[in-house]
Amino acid sequence: MGKNFTFLKNIYRSNTWELNSIAKLIFCVTFKCNLKCKICSIWKKDHREELSVGEIEKMFKKLPNLSWLDLTGGEIALREDLIDVIRTIITHSRNLKGFHMTSNGMLPEKIIKAAQEVIRLKLKPVISISIDGPPEVHDLLRGHKGSYAQAIKTFTALKSLKNSDTHISCTISKFNLKYIDEFVAALKKDVPRFSMKDLHFNFYHVSGHYYANETLGEKGKEGIGFSHIRKYFRMRGGQNFIKNYLEDKYLFYLEKYLNGEKISLACQALHGSVFVDAYGTVFPCLYYNRPIGRLNEIDYDINKLLKSPDLDQLKIQVKHQDCDRCWSDCEAYPMIIGNLLKLTKPASN
Ligand SMILES: C[S@@+](CC[C@H](N)C(=O)[O-])C[C@H]1O[C@@H](n2cnc3c(N)ncnc32)[C@H](O)[C@@H]1O
Ligand code: SF4
Ligand code: SF4
Repeated sequence: MGKNFTFLKNIYRSNTWELNSIAKLIFCVTFKCNLKCKICSIWKKDHREELSVGEIEKMFKKLPNLSWLDLTGGEIALREDLIDVIRTIITHSRNLKGFHMTSNGMLPEKIIKAAQEVIRLKLKPVISISIDGPPEVHDLLRGHKGSYAQAIKTFTALKSLKNSDTHISCTISKFNLKYIDEFVAALKKDVPRFSMKDLHFNFYHVSGHYYANETLGEKGKEGIGFSHIRKYFRMRGGQNFIKNYLEDKYLFYLEKYLNGEKISLACQALHGSVFVDAYGTVFPCLYYNRPIGRLNEIDYDINKLLKSPDLDQLKIQVKHQDCDRCWSDCEAYPMIIGNLLKLTKPASN
Protein backbone atom coordinates (compact mmCIF):
# COMPACT_ATOMS: atom_id res chain seq x y z
CA MET A 1 0.00 0.00 0.00
CA GLY A 2 1.33 3.42 -0.94
CA LYS A 3 1.68 6.40 1.38
CA ASN A 4 -1.11 8.26 -0.38
CA PHE A 5 -3.47 5.34 0.04
CA THR A 6 -2.60 5.05 3.76
CA PHE A 7 -3.05 8.79 4.19
CA LEU A 8 -6.53 8.74 2.63
CA LYS A 9 -7.45 5.58 4.50
CA ASN A 10 -6.39 7.27 7.76
CA ILE A 11 -8.60 10.27 7.01
CA TYR A 12 -11.54 8.01 6.24
CA ARG A 13 -11.00 5.92 9.37
CA SER A 14 -10.65 8.99 11.60
CA ASN A 15 -14.10 9.95 10.38
CA THR A 16 -15.64 6.53 10.87
CA TRP A 17 -13.87 6.23 14.21
CA GLU A 18 -12.11 3.01 13.21
CA LEU A 19 -8.52 4.21 13.30
CA ASN A 20 -7.23 3.06 16.68
CA SER A 21 -3.61 3.35 15.67
CA ILE A 22 -1.43 6.39 15.48
CA ALA A 23 -1.69 8.29 12.20
CA LYS A 24 -0.26 11.54 13.52
CA LEU A 25 2.41 12.11 16.14
CA ILE A 26 3.73 15.27 17.76
CA PHE A 27 7.22 14.46 18.96
CA CYS A 28 9.27 16.85 21.10
CA VAL A 29 12.84 15.68 20.43
CA THR A 30 14.45 17.90 23.05
CA PHE A 31 13.47 20.31 25.79
CA LYS A 32 16.78 22.17 25.46
CA CYS A 33 16.38 25.71 24.22
CA ASN A 34 18.59 28.66 23.33
CA LEU A 35 15.98 31.40 23.79
CA LYS A 36 14.06 32.67 26.81
CA CYS A 37 10.55 33.39 25.63
CA LYS A 38 7.89 35.20 27.63
CA ILE A 39 5.02 32.90 26.59
CA CYS A 40 6.90 29.61 26.80
CA SER A 41 9.04 28.44 29.71
CA ILE A 42 10.48 25.29 28.17
CA TRP A 43 13.87 26.95 28.67
CA LYS A 44 13.32 26.82 32.45
CA LYS A 45 12.82 23.04 32.54
CA ASP A 46 15.41 20.90 34.35
CA HIS A 47 17.31 18.69 32.00
CA ARG A 48 17.08 14.93 32.22
CA GLU A 49 18.28 12.26 29.87
CA GLU A 50 16.31 12.48 26.62
CA LEU A 51 15.30 9.63 24.31
CA SER A 52 18.27 8.18 22.44
CA VAL A 53 18.29 7.46 18.71
CA GLY A 54 17.98 3.75 19.57
CA GLU A 55 14.84 4.41 21.62
CA ILE A 56 13.43 6.65 18.89
CA GLU A 57 14.00 3.83 16.40
CA LYS A 58 12.11 1.37 18.64
CA MET A 59 9.16 3.78 18.86
CA PHE A 60 8.89 4.50 15.13
CA LYS A 61 9.30 0.85 14.13
CA LYS A 62 6.04 0.25 15.96
CA LEU A 63 4.04 3.00 14.21
CA PRO A 64 3.41 1.46 10.78
CA ASN A 65 0.34 3.61 10.13
CA LEU A 66 2.02 6.96 10.78
CA SER A 67 1.16 9.48 8.04
CA TRP A 68 2.03 12.80 9.66
CA LEU A 69 4.80 13.86 12.04
CA ASP A 70 5.30 17.18 13.83
CA LEU A 71 8.87 17.40 15.09
CA THR A 72 9.29 20.06 17.74
CA GLY A 73 11.15 21.06 20.89
CA GLY A 74 12.63 23.03 22.72
CA GLU A 75 14.91 23.87 19.85
CA ILE A 76 15.34 20.84 17.61
CA ALA A 77 18.63 22.21 16.22
CA LEU A 78 20.19 21.77 19.67
CA ARG A 79 20.08 18.00 19.31
CA GLU A 80 23.61 17.15 18.22
CA ASP A 81 22.26 14.00 16.56
CA LEU A 82 19.32 15.67 14.79
CA ILE A 83 20.30 14.27 11.39
CA ASP A 84 20.48 10.72 12.83
CA VAL A 85 17.10 11.26 14.48
CA ILE A 86 15.54 12.37 11.19
CA ARG A 87 17.13 9.52 9.22
CA THR A 88 15.95 6.99 11.80
CA ILE A 89 12.40 8.31 11.81
CA ILE A 90 12.00 8.44 8.04
CA THR A 91 13.72 5.11 7.42
CA HIS A 92 11.36 3.32 9.79
CA SER A 93 8.15 5.17 8.85
CA ARG A 94 7.32 3.77 5.45
CA ASN A 95 3.92 5.46 5.32
CA LEU A 96 5.06 8.89 6.44
CA LYS A 97 3.74 11.53 4.06
CA GLY A 98 3.87 14.78 6.04
CA PHE A 99 7.02 15.88 7.88
CA HIS A 100 6.63 19.17 9.73
CA MET A 101 9.30 20.73 11.91
CA THR A 102 9.32 23.93 13.93
CA SER A 103 12.37 25.98 14.85
CA ASN A 104 13.21 29.37 16.32
CA GLY A 105 15.69 29.83 13.47
CA MET A 106 18.68 30.66 15.69
CA LEU A 107 20.92 28.02 14.11
CA PRO A 108 20.40 28.33 10.35
CA GLU A 109 23.05 25.82 9.20
CA LYS A 110 21.64 23.05 11.38
CA ILE A 111 18.05 23.60 10.28
CA ILE A 112 19.05 23.80 6.63
CA LYS A 113 20.97 20.51 6.96
CA ALA A 114 17.95 18.94 8.66
CA ALA A 115 15.67 20.08 5.83
CA GLN A 116 18.13 18.79 3.23
CA GLU A 117 18.19 15.40 4.94
CA VAL A 118 14.38 15.18 4.81
CA ILE A 119 14.48 16.07 1.10
CA ARG A 120 17.26 13.53 0.47
CA LEU A 121 15.00 10.90 2.03
CA LYS A 122 12.30 11.80 -0.49
CA LEU A 123 9.88 13.75 1.68
CA LYS A 124 8.94 17.39 1.28
CA PRO A 125 9.54 19.08 4.66
CA VAL A 126 7.08 21.66 5.91
CA ILE A 127 9.08 24.03 8.10
CA SER A 128 7.79 26.68 10.50
CA ILE A 129 10.19 29.39 11.61
CA SER A 130 8.71 31.18 14.59
CA ILE A 131 8.74 34.97 14.53
CA ASP A 132 6.42 36.85 16.83
CA GLY A 133 6.63 40.50 15.80
CA PRO A 134 8.76 43.30 14.38
CA PRO A 135 12.47 43.23 15.38
CA GLU A 136 12.32 44.91 18.81
CA VAL A 137 9.13 43.10 19.82
CA HIS A 138 10.36 39.67 18.72
CA ASP A 139 13.75 40.17 20.40
CA LEU A 140 12.08 41.28 23.62
CA LEU A 141 9.56 38.43 23.63
CA ARG A 142 12.25 35.89 22.83
CA GLY A 143 14.76 37.31 25.34
CA HIS A 144 17.61 37.67 22.85
CA LYS A 145 18.76 40.69 20.86
CA GLY A 146 19.32 39.79 17.23
CA SER A 147 16.96 36.80 17.26
CA TYR A 148 14.61 38.45 14.72
CA ALA A 149 17.47 39.00 12.26
CA GLN A 150 18.67 35.42 12.72
CA ALA A 151 15.20 33.97 12.20
CA ILE A 152 14.74 36.04 9.03
CA LYS A 153 18.09 34.77 7.76
CA THR A 154 17.05 31.16 8.39
CA PHE A 155 13.64 31.63 6.81
CA THR A 156 15.11 33.27 3.70
CA ALA A 157 17.68 30.50 3.25
CA LEU A 158 15.07 27.75 3.69
CA LYS A 159 12.69 29.46 1.30
CA SER A 160 15.24 29.07 -1.47
CA LEU A 161 15.41 25.26 -0.99
CA LYS A 162 13.56 23.33 -3.67
CA ASN A 163 11.03 20.67 -2.63
CA SER A 164 10.28 22.21 0.73
CA ASP A 165 7.54 24.42 2.12
CA THR A 166 8.69 26.99 4.65
CA HIS A 167 6.61 29.61 6.41
CA ILE A 168 6.79 32.01 9.32
CA SER A 169 4.71 31.09 12.33
CA CYS A 170 3.55 33.91 14.59
CA THR A 171 1.96 33.14 17.94
CA ILE A 172 -0.43 35.92 18.91
CA SER A 173 -0.51 36.70 22.62
CA LYS A 174 -1.34 39.76 24.69
CA PHE A 175 2.29 40.83 24.25
CA ASN A 176 2.31 41.23 20.45
CA LEU A 177 -1.34 41.76 19.62
CA LYS A 178 -0.82 45.49 19.01
CA TYR A 179 2.17 45.01 16.75
CA ILE A 180 0.96 42.69 14.00
CA ASP A 181 0.47 45.41 11.38
CA GLU A 182 3.98 46.70 12.15
CA PHE A 183 5.23 43.12 11.91
CA VAL A 184 3.78 42.66 8.44
CA ALA A 185 5.43 45.93 7.35
CA ALA A 186 8.78 44.70 8.72
CA LEU A 187 8.45 41.37 6.88
CA LYS A 188 7.68 43.17 3.61
CA LYS A 189 10.90 45.12 4.08
CA ASP A 190 13.15 42.32 5.36
CA VAL A 191 12.06 39.24 3.39
CA PRO A 192 12.77 39.17 -0.33
CA ARG A 193 9.56 38.52 -2.32
CA PHE A 194 7.51 38.25 0.90
CA SER A 195 3.93 37.12 0.43
CA MET A 196 1.22 37.12 3.11
CA LYS A 197 0.87 33.41 2.39
CA ASP A 198 4.32 33.00 4.00
CA LEU A 199 2.83 34.05 7.33
CA HIS A 200 0.83 31.69 9.52
CA PHE A 201 -0.89 32.63 12.77
CA ASN A 202 -1.40 30.63 15.88
CA PHE A 203 -2.50 31.93 19.24
CA TYR A 204 -1.49 31.62 22.84
CA HIS A 205 -2.37 28.49 24.82
CA VAL A 206 -1.44 27.22 28.24
CA SER A 207 0.24 23.84 28.66
CA GLY A 208 1.84 22.65 31.87
CA HIS A 209 3.63 19.65 30.42
CA TYR A 210 4.74 21.34 27.21
CA TYR A 211 5.15 25.15 27.40
CA ALA A 212 5.42 25.01 31.22
CA ASN A 213 3.62 28.37 31.24
CA GLU A 214 1.01 27.88 33.98
CA THR A 215 2.43 30.84 35.90
CA LEU A 216 1.52 33.21 33.09
CA GLY A 217 -1.59 31.10 32.50
CA GLU A 218 -4.73 32.58 30.93
CA LYS A 219 -3.29 36.10 31.40
CA GLY A 220 -1.20 35.48 28.27
CA LYS A 221 -4.26 35.81 26.05
CA GLU A 222 -5.86 38.83 27.69
CA GLY A 223 -7.38 41.15 25.11
CA ILE A 224 -7.31 38.62 22.27
CA GLY A 225 -10.73 38.55 20.66
CA PHE A 226 -12.07 36.72 17.67
CA SER A 227 -12.11 39.87 15.54
CA HIS A 228 -8.33 40.33 15.92
CA ILE A 229 -7.49 36.80 14.99
CA ARG A 230 -9.93 36.65 12.09
CA LYS A 231 -8.52 39.90 10.77
CA TYR A 232 -5.00 38.49 10.72
CA PHE A 233 -6.05 35.21 9.12
CA ARG A 234 -7.97 37.14 6.46
CA MET A 235 -4.89 39.26 5.72
CA ARG A 236 -3.37 36.15 4.16
CA GLY A 237 -5.97 36.22 1.39
CA GLY A 238 -7.54 33.25 -0.41
CA GLN A 239 -5.69 29.96 -0.72
CA ASN A 240 -6.68 26.85 -2.63
CA PHE A 241 -10.09 25.24 -2.12
CA ILE A 242 -8.97 22.76 0.57
CA LYS A 243 -7.01 25.34 2.57
CA ASN A 244 -9.90 27.82 2.37
CA TYR A 245 -12.34 25.17 3.58
CA LEU A 246 -10.12 24.18 6.51
CA GLU A 247 -9.44 27.77 7.47
CA ASP A 248 -13.12 28.67 7.35
CA LYS A 249 -13.94 25.81 9.68
CA TYR A 250 -11.00 26.72 11.91
CA LEU A 251 -12.31 30.28 12.25
CA PHE A 252 -15.91 29.18 12.70
CA TYR A 253 -14.96 27.10 15.74
CA LEU A 254 -12.38 29.61 16.94
CA GLU A 255 -15.12 32.11 17.61
CA LYS A 256 -16.94 29.54 19.70
CA TYR A 257 -13.75 28.58 21.53
CA LEU A 258 -12.90 32.19 22.38
CA ASN A 259 -16.47 32.69 23.61
CA GLY A 260 -15.93 29.80 26.01
CA GLU A 261 -18.27 27.44 24.14
CA LYS A 262 -17.51 23.75 23.79
CA ILE A 263 -16.60 22.71 20.26
CA SER A 264 -18.96 20.06 18.95
CA LEU A 265 -16.29 18.02 17.16
CA ALA A 266 -14.87 14.71 18.34
CA CYS A 267 -11.23 15.15 19.34
CA GLN A 268 -8.83 12.74 17.62
CA ALA A 269 -6.33 12.59 20.51
CA LEU A 270 -5.83 8.99 21.75
CA HIS A 271 -7.74 7.80 18.67
CA GLY A 272 -5.30 8.70 15.90
CA SER A 273 -2.77 10.97 17.58
CA VAL A 274 -0.65 11.50 20.69
CA PHE A 275 2.15 13.74 21.93
CA VAL A 276 5.46 12.22 23.06
CA ASP A 277 7.88 14.38 25.01
CA ALA A 278 11.67 14.32 25.01
CA TYR A 279 11.79 11.95 28.00
CA GLY A 280 9.47 9.41 26.39
CA THR A 281 6.30 10.31 28.29
CA VAL A 282 3.14 9.89 26.22
CA PHE A 283 0.26 12.41 26.53
CA PRO A 284 -3.02 12.69 24.61
CA CYS A 285 -1.88 15.97 23.06
CA LEU A 286 0.12 19.15 23.59
CA TYR A 287 -2.38 20.57 26.07
CA TYR A 288 -4.09 17.94 28.18
CA ASN A 289 -1.69 17.22 31.01
CA ARG A 290 -2.64 13.59 31.56
CA PRO A 291 0.43 11.34 31.08
CA ILE A 292 -0.73 7.92 29.86
CA GLY A 293 2.51 5.98 29.86
CA ARG A 294 6.27 5.97 29.48
CA LEU A 295 7.84 4.45 26.38
CA ASN A 296 10.41 2.40 28.30
CA GLU A 297 7.62 0.81 30.35
CA ILE A 298 5.45 -0.13 27.36
CA ASP A 299 8.10 -1.66 25.12
CA TYR A 300 8.01 1.57 23.01
CA ASP A 301 4.69 0.43 21.57
CA ILE A 302 2.22 3.33 21.56
CA ASN A 303 -0.43 1.47 19.56
CA LYS A 304 -0.43 -1.34 22.11
CA LEU A 305 -0.72 1.20 24.92
CA LEU A 306 -3.77 2.74 23.25
CA LYS A 307 -5.50 -0.63 23.22
CA SER A 308 -5.29 -0.89 27.00
CA PRO A 309 -8.75 -1.00 28.65
CA ASP A 310 -7.30 1.31 31.34
CA LEU A 311 -7.59 4.13 28.82
CA ASP A 312 -11.21 3.51 27.81
CA GLN A 313 -12.65 6.13 30.13
CA LEU A 314 -10.03 8.73 29.26
CA LYS A 315 -10.63 8.13 25.54
CA ILE A 316 -14.32 8.90 25.92
CA GLN A 317 -13.48 11.99 27.94
CA VAL A 318 -11.05 13.25 25.32
CA LYS A 319 -13.39 12.46 22.42
CA HIS A 320 -16.05 14.68 24.02
CA GLN A 321 -13.50 17.32 25.02
CA ASP A 322 -13.98 16.81 28.69
CA CYS A 323 -10.35 17.90 29.02
CA ASP A 324 -8.25 21.08 29.15
CA ARG A 325 -9.66 21.97 25.69
CA CYS A 326 -7.76 23.79 22.99
CA TRP A 327 -8.09 25.22 19.52
CA SER A 328 -4.55 25.50 18.24
CA ASP A 329 -3.57 24.71 14.66
CA CYS A 330 -1.64 21.49 15.47
CA GLU A 331 -4.66 19.92 17.13
CA ALA A 332 -7.57 21.78 15.47
CA TYR A 333 -6.82 20.90 11.84
CA PRO A 334 -6.64 17.13 12.54
CA MET A 335 -9.89 17.52 14.47
CA ILE A 336 -11.55 19.18 11.47
CA ILE A 337 -10.19 16.55 9.06
CA GLY A 338 -11.35 13.77 11.39
CA ASN A 339 -14.88 15.21 11.38
CA LEU A 340 -15.33 15.85 7.67
CA LEU A 341 -18.27 13.46 7.35
CA LYS A 342 -20.08 15.29 10.14
CA LEU A 343 -19.14 18.73 8.82
CA THR A 344 -20.28 18.07 5.29
CA LYS A 345 -23.74 16.90 6.37
CA PRO A 346 -26.32 19.66 5.91
CA ALA A 347 -27.05 21.66 9.07
CA SER A 348 -24.07 20.12 10.86
CA ASN A 349 -22.75 23.48 12.08
C1 LIG B 1 7.36 25.53 21.77
S1 LIG B 1 7.97 26.01 20.23
C2 LIG B 1 9.23 24.82 19.88
C3 LIG B 1 9.97 25.10 18.60
C4 LIG B 1 10.93 26.28 18.60
N1 LIG B 1 11.65 26.42 19.79
C5 LIG B 1 10.20 27.55 18.24
O1 LIG B 1 10.13 28.45 19.08
O2 LIG B 1 9.70 27.59 17.12
C6 LIG B 1 6.70 25.49 19.07
C7 LIG B 1 5.77 26.60 18.66
O3 LIG B 1 4.96 26.94 19.78
C8 LIG B 1 4.81 28.34 19.80
N2 LIG B 1 4.48 28.72 21.18
C9 LIG B 1 5.31 29.01 22.18
N3 LIG B 1 4.62 29.28 23.30
C10 LIG B 1 3.32 29.14 23.00
C11 LIG B 1 2.11 29.28 23.73
N4 LIG B 1 2.12 29.62 25.01
N5 LIG B 1 0.95 29.06 23.08
C12 LIG B 1 0.92 28.71 21.78
N6 LIG B 1 2.03 28.57 21.03
C13 LIG B 1 3.22 28.78 21.64
C14 LIG B 1 6.15 28.84 19.32
O4 LIG B 1 6.08 30.18 18.89
C15 LIG B 1 6.45 27.87 18.21
O5 LIG B 1 5.89 28.33 17.01
S1 SF4 C 1 8.91 29.02 22.15
FE1 SF4 C 1 10.57 27.83 21.30
S2 SF4 C 1 12.30 29.20 21.46
FE2 SF4 C 1 10.81 29.99 22.85
S3 SF4 C 1 11.34 29.07 24.85
FE3 SF4 C 1 9.74 27.83 23.85
S4 SF4 C 1 10.89 26.24 22.87
FE4 SF4 C 1 12.33 27.90 23.27
S1 SF4 D 1 -9.56 18.98 22.75
FE1 SF4 D 1 -8.58 18.31 24.66
S2 SF4 D 1 -7.68 16.30 24.31
FE2 SF4 D 1 -8.24 17.21 22.32
S3 SF4 D 1 -6.34 18.13 21.61
FE3 SF4 D 1 -7.46 19.74 22.70
S4 SF4 D 1 -6.81 19.66 24.88
FE4 SF4 D 1 -6.13 17.80 23.81
